[in-house]
Amino acid sequence: MEGGRWWQDGIGYICYPASFKDSDGDGVGDLKGILAKLPYLEELGVTFLWLCPIFDSPMEDDGYDVRDFHRINPLFGTMEDLRLLLEEAHARGIRILLDLVMNHTSREHPWFKKALQDPMCEERSYYIFRKGRKDGDRLLPPNNWGSFFSPSAWERVPGTDEFYFHSFGRGMPDLDWSNEKVQDLMAGIASSYLDMGVDGFRMDATAHLAKDMSFADSPLPDEDGDGYVLDPSRFSNRPELMGYLQEFRRKALKGRDALLIGEVGGSIQPSEGERMARRGQGPLDLLFNFDTVWNNGNFGSIGKKDEEIRTDVMLLKHNFSRWYEACHETCDMPLYWCNHDHPRVLRQYGSREYRKESAKALLLTLLFLYGTPFLFQGEELGMDDLMDAPVGDFLHDAGTKEAVDSYRKEGYSEEEILSFFRRTGRTNARSPIPWDRGEWGGFSSHKPLFPMNHDHLLGVNVEDEEKDPDSVLNFYKEAIRIRKGPWGKIVREGRLEWVDWNHQDAFAYLHRGQRNLLVITNMRPYDVYFSFNFQIADILLHNYEGVLLSPERVMRLRPFESYLLAVR
Ligand code: GLC
Repeated sequence: MEGGRWWQDGIGYICYPASFKDSDGDGVGDLKGILAKLPYLEELGVTFLWLCPIFDSPMEDDGYDVRDFHRINPLFGTMEDLRLLLEEAHARGIRILLDLVMNHTSREHPWFKKALQDPMCEERSYYIFRKGRKDGDRLLPPNNWGSFFSPSAWERVPGTDEFYFHSFGRGMPDLDWSNEKVQDLMAGIASSYLDMGVDGFRMDATAHLAKDMSFADSPLPDEDGDGYVLDPSRFSNRPELMGYLQEFRRKALKGRDALLIGEVGGSIQPSEGERMARRGQGPLDLLFNFDTVWNNGNFGSIGKKDEEIRTDVMLLKHNFSRWYEACHETCDMPLYWCNHDHPRVLRQYGSREYRKESAKALLLTLLFLYGTPFLFQGEELGMDDLMDAPVGDFLHDAGTKEAVDSYRKEGYSEEEILSFFRRTGRTNARSPIPWDRGEWGGFSSHKPLFPMNHDHLLGVNVEDEEKDPDSVLNFYKEAIRIRKGPWGKIVREGRLEWVDWNHQDAFAYLHRGQRNLLVITNMRPYDVYFSFNFQIADILLHNYEGVLLSPERVMRLRPFESYLLAVR
């Protein structure tokens, strides 16, 4: 395959292997399953895959807790399966990125086991151990920092007065990136997979590699009164991170052509992001922040009613715009609605009532912005969240389980907890891909590890979607085909202009180039009006029949109506 910045005109697909396709009937998707579905991905127009973690893991965080970086999780297959997948995918022009978890390992990783057994061993220095604080007879953690998945970010080493640091779950001790040996080890792991033919990495939790090594207490208020505060500024996007990543890139890539995607989370300014991803200079090629993911009041919305969750269209435009302004001249950028950590975009910004219309509208809105699009598996089928799942279905997820426990303690009702997780829980995104209407949706012959979304019985499955000419899936194929053609160049090179920026309900933009491309989307489940001052040269794609335009040139946009237009 050709080198260069190949992702610039690529279409990425985020594949959550456990839920994509099971080939051996154990209820967990696997590499052979992905191999079998390469023709599906090729037909969709995907040019590269990001595979969520496939390394050996006790699965305390579904693979984000790696036990052995040099072994494939037997649930997913073998190294030979990965080799075969790389070969077959490359033969179809599809590149493969692996998800590399660099911030922490599993507590079952041999380094950590050794570190626990022998405080004097070298491996002890790969992790972060500190003495606890005495409070009378009690031994408290070294500081008041909270973690993403549990109240305290510290776990006591049994039988000692020491604790180890974990920014995520207890089973995921953080590596100490200020130790050069750790940097070298991780670069070596990445390098070995590049030797094997992998095309790059999505680097998990990149934001958190550098910590405030003083480990001083956070001054933030302890709002829930448990003694701990989640203060990401203590371990997110800190100044040392840039140097760590520069070195990682140099040592892992050794001048090779590979894509490095960093997950920088939600606490970074576009100007900092620009420095990290500056073309040819920054240590990363693309970075994922989450600024456009939760623009509807849904994040942390426990206690709110579903009706209170409403897309803030102005905020969404503002967030796309500020990143575009800071980065488009000097950086490549990714485009995405969500990933395996979020609810489905259909529920987030679309509508179950207008499933087809809104799924198509959201695609058009995103796909023709500047950047490299990433689809999250199932989005192309217009999949919804797990609307009928009981709370037990969400408890498989380590982070969710801890959160449910604390919401119960705080006195939220079961109903509030359930509706909150049905619209925010990351299990929603992890429900298996339904390939047909069969039992377990043709995903597996066994009950899947993750809960099924029963909408497959209503036609939300690959087989039905393929047959229906008006389906979400077929719309995706057509939209992607257009994006990969000459219009893609205009999207990449033309200047993006917002159209009717102050419109509270419509998301509309124009790319000026040799020809002008206009996208207009009604983001609401009801009619809205839009003043239209262009001459339509061609309707390239549209999710409704007919154009409702008055002689006064006011356009009536139906619920989630979306146009892709060539205009003069
Ligand atoms: C990233 C992953 C998420 C995981 C966490 C810890 O945010 O996307 O799934 O739980 O890191 O590895």
